[in-house]
Amino acid sequence: MTRPRVALFPGSFDPFTNGHLDLARRAGELFDRVVIAVAHNSAKTSLFTPEERVEMIEASIGGLKGASVIHFSGLLVDCARRIGAQAIIRGLRAVSDFEFEFQMALMNRRLAPGVEIAFLMPSQEFTYLNSTLVKEVARHGGRVRGLVPPLVERRLRERLRAVARAEAVAKPRAR
Ligand code: PNS
Repeated sequence: MTRPRVALFPGSFDPFTNGHLDLARRAGELFDRVVIAVAHNSAKTSLFTPEERVEMIEASIGGLKGASVIHFSGLLVDCARRIGAQAIIRGLRAVSDFEFEFQMALMNRRLAPGVEIAFLMPSQEFTYLNSTLVKEVARHGGRVRGLVPPLVERRLRERLRAVARAEAVAKPRAR
């Protein structure tokens, strides 16, 4: 029996966008299993906890055969080895992504020469899309429908409302 082809699709996914979903679908065409891995990144302040992000992604990838979601901390290559991934998937949207992705790919290859790094391009309609922009637009009341899965859109609205309320309470009233 041949070994299943497993891909690890890592990211912060804070939050998961339709661009990420597009990439996960594309990876699913190439691999038997796609494991979406949410990174615990203590250096970044996140809007959602890793557990919340996993839950939202799980709800958004329904029907995507062979896909599953985990969260991980530590080195990405250790996570790849643990789950038996032959490849790490990263998205490339524009030339601006390239330098950072290239450095990361070479470092990961040095750490784990047996794990291939595969870059996929999302559909053209998502080339400008990233999680930071989505949060920024939503924070200022802009419309993010169609940019993120419906559950993410809802949770984003709720979370940003809660954050704004907490900030208003914390801020001393101007006299
Ligand atoms: O969605 P992002 O923020 O671009 O994802 C970056 C991520 C999580 C893939 C990267 O920061 C990562 O791999 N973190 C795990 C720690 C690690 O292995 N760092 C060395 C990478 S060369």
